[in-house]
Amino acid sequence: AVSYVRPQFDQRIDVVHPRLFGAFVEQMGRSVYTGIYEADHPTADARGFRGDVKELVRELGVTTLRYPGGNFVSGYRWEDGVGPVEERPVRLDLAWHSTEPNTVGLHEFASWAEESDAEMMLAVNLGTRGLEEALELVEYANHRGSSELADRRRRNGREDPFDVRMWCLGNEVDGPWQLGSLSAEEYGRLASRVARAFRRFDPTLELVACGSSASFLPTFGDWEREVLMQAYDDVDFISCHAYYEEIDGDTAAFLSSSDHMQQVISDVSATIEHVRSVKKSDRRVRISFDEWNVWYQADQARPGAVPTSNDDWPIAPPILEDQYTAADAVVVGSLLITLLNNVDVVHAACLAQLVNVIGPIVTVPGGPAFRQTSYFPFAETAGRARGSVVKTLVSSPTHAAGDRGDIASIVAATTFDPLDGTATVFLANRSTTDSVSVDVDVTQLGVCAVDAARLLHDPDFHAKNTAAEPERVGLMDLDVAVEAGHVRAELPPCSWAVIALS
Ligand code: AHR
Repeated sequence: AVSYVRPQFDQRIDVVHPRLFGAFVEQMGRSVYTGIYEADHPTADARGFRGDVKELVRELGVTTLRYPGGNFVSGYRWEDGVGPVEERPVRLDLAWHSTEPNTVGLHEFASWAEESDAEMMLAVNLGTRGLEEALELVEYANHRGSSELADRRRRNGREDPFDVRMWCLGNEVDGPWQLGSLSAEEYGRLASRVARAFRRFDPTLELVACGSSASFLPTFGDWEREVLMQAYDDVDFISCHAYYEEIDGDTAAFLSSSDHMQQVISDVSATIEHVRSVKKSDRRVRISFDEWNVWYQADQARPGAVPTSNDDWPIAPPILEDQYTAADAVVVGSLLITLLNNVDVVHAACLAQLVNVIGPIVTVPGGPAFRQTSYFPFAETAGRARGSVVKTLVSSPTHAAGDRGDIASIVAATTFDPLDGTATVFLANRSTTDSVSVDVDVTQLGVCAVDAARLLHDPDFHAKNTAAEPERVGLMDLDVAVEAGHVRAELPPCSWAVIALS
């Protein structure tokens, strides 16, 4: 089978927004404690953050870090995480049935984010708290002048404001598992009120209203419409969250996940446009896809599940520690292709999460850290997608993908940097049975040389990287032939590839 891929270098979708390659660090499980932070680890810095993890985060190319939750934020008091560590209270985390020691809070995380070369984006608690505490946090974090809150920040060791630009107004407020969940109307009003108050402090803040937690919820669509009817003129983004998993060994259906993500983006975009037209507004609300990944939820308790015992409130329990397969990495790569192809509406996104908790990085307490399979497509895409995304026409063989029916085997996205004339083509073969010969027509580029061609594939689609075998799955060179402006390569079944051209 042959697939013809034709990047349209003169048809720009939009720029590659730097915030497309964000990740998410929730104060839960081993994400922070024994994840990014482990004071007695041999690589720990003076603040207690693991140096090996910081290196991997930088290499991953993460641009933004969403913090501190997630479900956790809906019960969090930000004040618990500032001031002298020995005076911070130990609290129960009702979202994950754990104990939060508050050793790491805003100041520590912000320094770590800066050292990891990433912008911090903060979520405020609109579950158990409200406008007043959210406003106090913004003032504490961002006020340049003198006030009780800004001076408290200074006394706590931070002279300059953190200058956090992007703020999530709560988290998954529609989810019945969320502490203090609300109806769309209640939340829309609250989001509008909080956003207006934030803008009195600083009109240039970028504000994210919560969209649906998942498209399978009965309120999906209605939720976005109602929230935007209340808050359209007050916010800049509405969030999307989507997680995918292979169910009952149906790899073919699982590999079609990026089509589902496309549907979510199209549905939410349509709702944004609908509300914009009803409101006769010129403003464009964008999508912040601030939680996306593969997550094997069927194997795990849902957040908020009733605990089996009330005695067990562990600190940093090993929860949601999925071990990713080669097929999972192909799905992650194809989800990135979908995000790239939608940069006209998706201006920010966060892989959820980063370390240990459904993360591309895994740590062994006291031992090494290693890259999961999902690390590679993310690092390559974040590292190589530059300039603008251009339209990519793909004619592809199709194959049956379970309930999804027939789908295109090949999906692709192309970025083009007019400054230096370089282009990068990202490809995935979602067939579980057939290799596909891909013919990429780059005649529009003029002279063409291949600078790099990399492939992620394992004949065992379920091969994983583990502490015992941390490099089982990785990238390999992809054989390419270049002739008269055409780049040809053979993509094996269940594979992801990147071709960098100049
Ligand atoms: O990323 C794990 C959880 O998924 C987050 O806490 C929540 O926002 C979502 O349900």
